Amino acid sequence: MYHANPDRYGHVPVRHAGTSGLMLPVVSLGLWQHFGSADPFAARRDVILAAFDRGVFHFDCANHYGDGDFGSSEALLGQVLGADLRAYRDELVISTKVGYEIHPGPYGTGTSRKAVMQSIDSSLQRLQLDYVDLFYAHRFDETVNVAETVRALDDVVRAGKALYIGVSNFETPQAQEAIGLFQQLGTPFVVNQMSYNLFNRNVETSGQLALLREHGAGLVAYGPLSEGLLSDRYLGGIPDTFKIHPTNQATFSRGKDEVVHCLNQLNDIAHDRGQTLAQMALAWLLRDPVVTSVIIGTTSVEHLEDNLAAAENLTFSAEELARIEALTALS
Ligand SMILES: NC(=O)c1ccc[n+]([C@@H]2O[C@H](COP(=O)([O-])OP(=O)(O)OC[C@H]3O[C@@H](n4cnc5c(N)ncnc54)[C@H](OP(=O)(O)O)[C@@H]3O)[C@@H](O)[C@H]2O)c1
Repeated sequence: MYHANPDRYGHVPVRHAGTSGLMLPVVSLGLWQHFGSADPFAARRDVILAAFDRGVFHFDCANHYGDGDFGSSEALLGQVLGADLRAYRDELVISTKVGYEIHPGPYGTGTSRKAVMQSIDSSLQRLQLDYVDLFYAHRFDETVNVAETVRALDDVVRAGKALYIGVSNFETPQAQEAIGLFQQLGTPFVVNQMSYNLFNRNVETSGQLALLREHGAGLVAYGPLSEGLLSDRYLGGIPDTFKIHPTNQATFSRGKDEVVHCLNQLNDIAHDRGQTLAQMALAWLLRDPVVTSVIIGTTSVEHLEDNLAAAENLTFSAEELARIEALTALS
């Protein structure tokens, strides 16, 4: 029987999402890839419990996750929540999302009222929970009036099925519109979950960070290592098989050789700071307190530990920031 490490808190700092009462560890664990039905349950359970034992109490999921077997990541997490973590439910922040495909037909995708309402019920069932802490619209649905989506999300909260609401992949004007509507309804909207890493500055240049700051909300950064690119894995070269997330396509616009050169120079800066490249990449995102948490994806306890140690040094000198900027800002 699992007993959580009594010393689990105090190592990973905790941040409020903007001015809300929702608190997250600065590093969270996501279950997007490799946590599906085709993956070894025992090994994935070990990573989830290792994370909780080290102060990671936020786990991020989506109805769509499961490497093609939609819903199977929620089911995997649900198995761990139902058995090992049941006694710790009050300590956990569990998030899930609606918006990408979950089943065939027009209500199997998107954020219509019907899709939102049935999705939360199915997610709760798979997760073996009565409520989630944070429920997201996974994407902006161009086919549905955003007011309908916002109202449905608000109703999910009023039904007691979620405590807080977030959006994800909402570009700045879309987030602005949604935030205005959430404010009218008094919905506890707290975060936008966006792609953000050293090579992808869209949330900075688009005014997203400023918007969230202005409205007392936070940013949750996904893909903080750009599929592991920002680690010591590819210092010797990037294989042709490397798959980059659609939000990070611009990273390779300068050519892969140049990216490898840049990674090596970033690695030198990280080394001077006493960090691995992955640790520096995560710490760099967290230099701004509007970033509530970075969600890492890993199947390895070793990588988890490497990443969590990022929290030991979140401070950058002006010179370090300038060196990093010169290397990473795309002209
Ligand atoms: N809202 C959205 O639309 C959206 C989209 C994408 C992701 N997300 C969320 O964000 C989470 C993380 O996304 P992501 O998987 O792209 O994150 P990521 O952490 O940037 O990349 C994960 C990859 O990095 C590798 N890795 C992690 N730590 C490492 C280390 N210290 N050294 C070397 N390699 C390392 C992992 O391999 P190993 O398994 O070998 O460690 C994995 O291949 C997802 O699970 C999901 O919850 C949300």
